[in-house]
Order: sequence, then C-alpha cells, then structure tokens
Amino acid sequence: MADLLVLGIETTCDETSAAVVARSPSGASDIRSNVIRSQVEIHSPYGGVVPEIAARAHVEILDHVIAEAMRQANVAFSELSGVAAAAGPGLIGGVIVGLTTAKAIALAAKKPLVAVNHLEAHALTARLTDGVAFPYLLLLVSGGHTQLLAVEDVGRYTRLGTTLDDAVGEAFDKVAKMLSLPYPGGPQVEAQAKLGYASRFAFPRPMLGRREPDFSLSGLKTAVRLEADRLAPLSDDDVADLCASFQAAVVDLIADRVRAGARAFRDRLGRGPTALVVAGGVAANTMIRESLAKVAAELNIRYAVPSPALCTDNGAMIAWAGAERLSRGIRDRLDISPRARWPLDPAAAASANARA
Ligand code: KG4
Ligand code: ZN
Repeated sequence: MADLLVLGIETTCDETSAAVVARSPSGASDIRSNVIRSQVEIHSPYGGVVPEIAARAHVEILDHVIAEAMRQANVAFSELSGVAAAAGPGLIGGVIVGLTTAKAIALAAKKPLVAVNHLEAHALTARLTDGVAFPYLLLLVSGGHTQLLAVEDVGRYTRLGTTLDDAVGEAFDKVAKMLSLPYPGGPQVEAQAKLGYASRFAFPRPMLGRREPDFSLSGLKTAVRLEADRLAPLSDDDVADLCASFQAAVVDLIADRVRAGARAFRDRLGRGPTALVVAGGVAANTMIRESLAKVAAELNIRYAVPSPALCTDNGAMIAWAGAERLSRGIRDRLDISPRARWPLDPAAAASANARA
C-alpha cells in the first residue's frame, strides 16, 4: 500500500486550520503543512468565543487557509488520498462550515470523505508525534472535556473516568475571568502563575485519593473565587499568587487522578498501558506536562505529550485521524451530519446520562 496523503480541516471552536499529513503503511507520519489562524482577536472584546461570530469568521477564511495548506504542502487535490474534517463535537456553526467544505472538495475531487471526531483527533495525536502503540492511557484535557481513557485501537476508547462538573480548561478559563485576565484564560493563568507564589493559598484538591479516576473542579474554582472576593481590590501580586496556587492545586489533583487512572486501566484491561499520553489544549501547560512526566516515570511507563502547538486545536491532528481511519478502510458517506455532541465512549456516556 502506498502512503496516504490527507487534507484535514478543523473548525470546531475558535481556530480555523487546514493541514496536509502523510501516513506510511507502517504508521510513520509527515506533516507537510499545518496552517492555523486563531480567532482570538475577533472574540477578545467579548471575553470568550461567540459562536455566531466564530462560524462567520470560519466561512470568511477557510478557503484561503486550505489553499495555503495545499500550497505549502505542494500537492494538488487530485493527489490526495482523502479529505478529513472535524464533524464534531464543537460549536455547530463552525462544524457545519468545515464539514460542508470537506464534502465539496471530496465530491469535486472524487476523494473519500472522513468525518473525524475532534476528541479522537486529540487522542491519536501522540501516534502522529511519537508513534505510540495501542493500548495507551490517555488524559484528555481540553476546554470542554476532561477524561481518562484506555485507547485500545482507532475507534476503540473506554472511558475510565471523567469530570463530575467543570472541565480543567473550563476551570482555567473561569479563574482567568474572575481575575479579569483576558481570554483565552489558560495561557494567561499560566503566565501569571510564573510570577506568583504557589504556597500563598492552600486551595483544595478535590477527589484526592479516591479510587475511581474521576475529577471535580468546581470546589477548587469556588475556593479561588472566595479568596479573590475576600482580597478585592486585587493587586498584581494577589492575581499572580492566586494563579500560582490554583495551578499548583490543579497539578496535584491531575497527578493523583492519573495514578488512579493507571490502576483502573490495569483492572479493566488486565495489563498495563504502553504509555501515558496527554492531549487537548490544557496539555500545553508546562507545569502539567512536567508533573505528568514524573508520574509516568514513577509508574515506569513511556510518556508522550505532543508539542504545545499540536495540543491545542489544529488541522494536522484531524488529517492524521483521517489517515488512521482511511488506513483501516473507514470512510464516510457524503450525507453524514455534523454533531454538536459526540462522545468517544458512547457506552460510558449512555450510563452517565442514565444516572443523571
Ligand atoms: O483543545 P483546545 O484547544 O480546544 C477545545 O477543544 O476545547 O483546548 C482549549 C482549552 C481552553 O480551556 C484553554 O484555556 C486551555 O485549553 N489551555 C490551557 C493552556 N493553553 C490552552 N490551559 C492551561 N494552560 C495552558 N497553557
Ligand atoms: Zn480541542
């Protein structure tokens, strides 16, 4: 079999991105291009992503972003093996823009379409960057999701644990907002934390020591809010110390939850993971990356975390997930629908809904 050459399109949130990625039959990868246009400037006056504005901005620039990705990769549509787009989960207006564009290109160029789950793309990025073998333990930490998963194969994900309330990225974003830091919150909180003292406030580490590898962030977030209210008006030092103390609590609780996840992985699969993989926007955080490297060493397993640029949303991860699916003969029909919600482990999602 020849190498697969896939165009990937990402428009689920506030990044418009297109990339061309090659995958050899043995699983070797080559990122030929990865063009990312952030909408941060467009949304920042509103303090967060405005879905309608995001969808319009995707429409305006997606064609140019795709043309640039094809130009940098130096390939023609006729040379592609397939066209992949994130078909969800995400803001539905943006998802429609990306998926419809992918369908149009697939139809015109007579190429297979692959409708990629955005979360699956994050989950498989470590195979693009590090060639990690199945099955691995994945910590997926983004703006909307916080999960520990056993990644057993392409399309086979078992959820071991999840957050009972806020996602980790959401907690970073909310803490940034309460401290009047600009959107997007995660990188701002991280930058402030570097300037502050993590030991000034002893914030709670919810779920610490629990056997089930679940997360809870809302108590920690509330504790930061109460402290900020008590101190108001906040000095620059207060903001930095609050960020540092918050981030230290997140680092501790994530490390503990990943240890619980590794135990749950062994219980569920009857063997240990090949690697600990961290994915999603929050995996761009340096302290979290470094602390989990220590956890992996302690557990005596390989550690793989993509570079920060491949942790946050990008087209290369969509193209790669498309190539992984195509390599297994998986493709989608042109009438496939975009999805605002799309769990990686439908069984876990169904039982969670039944409980709720
Ligand atoms: O995966 P992603 O780019 O988009 C989603 O699919 O959600 O993740 C975005 C999330 C946001 O909540 C953002 O604040 C967070 O990732 N994030 C960070 C950092 N960079 C992005 N959180 C903490 N530290 C960072 N350096
Ligand atoms: Zn994402």
